[in-house]
Amino acid sequence: MSFLTPILNNLSNLIQSAKRGEKIAMLTCYDASFAKLMEIAGVDMLLVGDSLGMVLQGAENTLNVSMHHMTYHTKNVAAGAPNTVIMADMPLGSYEHDHQAAFTNAQWLIKSGAHLVKFEGGGKRIETARYLVEHGIPVCAHLGFTPQMVNQLGGYKIQGKTEESAEQILQDAKDMSDAGVSFVLLEMVPAQLAKKITQSISAPTIGIGAGVDCCGQVLVIQDLLGIYTGPAHKKPEEFKSPRFVSNFLQDTNSVQNAVKNYVQAVKNKTFPAAEHSY
Ligand code: KIV
Repeated sequence: MSFLTPILNNLSNLIQSAKRGEKIAMLTCYDASFAKLMEIAGVDMLLVGDSLGMVLQGAENTLNVSMHHMTYHTKNVAAGAPNTVIMADMPLGSYEHDHQAAFTNAQWLIKSGAHLVKFEGGGKRIETARYLVEHGIPVCAHLGFTPQMVNQLGGYKIQGKTEESAEQILQDAKDMSDAGVSFVLLEMVPAQLAKKITQSISAPTIGIGAGVDCCGQVLVIQDLLGIYTGPAHKKPEEFKSPRFVSNFLQDTNSVQNAVKNYVQAVKNKTFPAAEHSY
């Protein structure tokens, strides 16, 4: 038995339970204390997201996050949650240029404690996904609104609103699934499109601002706790939360309970609701 076997079993169990229709509750996580709390609260999968550039570093976007940041935070999360599946983001510049570089960077994240890596985009990224999967690295594809492309996309905007762009996202999701990715994460796409994608591909979908029909949900922990108020240099009152965000702390008295309530709400399909969808 290789040292990787228990990890792969956890990941494949999670994929199988999603395929049986059990909802996956996922949260972003960047440190050991929260990782431990989330593991105890029953969160299925932790995402060491490059959103850390915004919620930990106070930046406007995720563009300055480095491999060094990602490996550091992945190690901390892995230390706190040894029995939970951990997904780590590949930061901008770590996977786009060539497959070998993508593999090298992905394996650093795996060596830091991640069980799978996530990167953004379809198109040319499909071959990158295939290469990593063929070389033993489980992958999650991130489609729809892709924060590392915020400048090309002209800001934080819903994707897939036109027939043509919806068709492109659906095709990318199908191609990613055929390339062997473990999950397809859909960010800020119309609920109907996310539903169609979920019904059309074999990889389970995870939504954030993608309606009620994805196989799982993810939220940024600072959003769940209602403590993110925009980049460090901006006034909190200038910040407007996206509609997919829900504050789970306001109805309870502890962070533990807020996280537990989120897990329950995802599992019993009360979160997200139509009001969180586009
Ligand atoms: O970096 C991140 O936290 C993410 C989520 C928004 C899905 O990619």
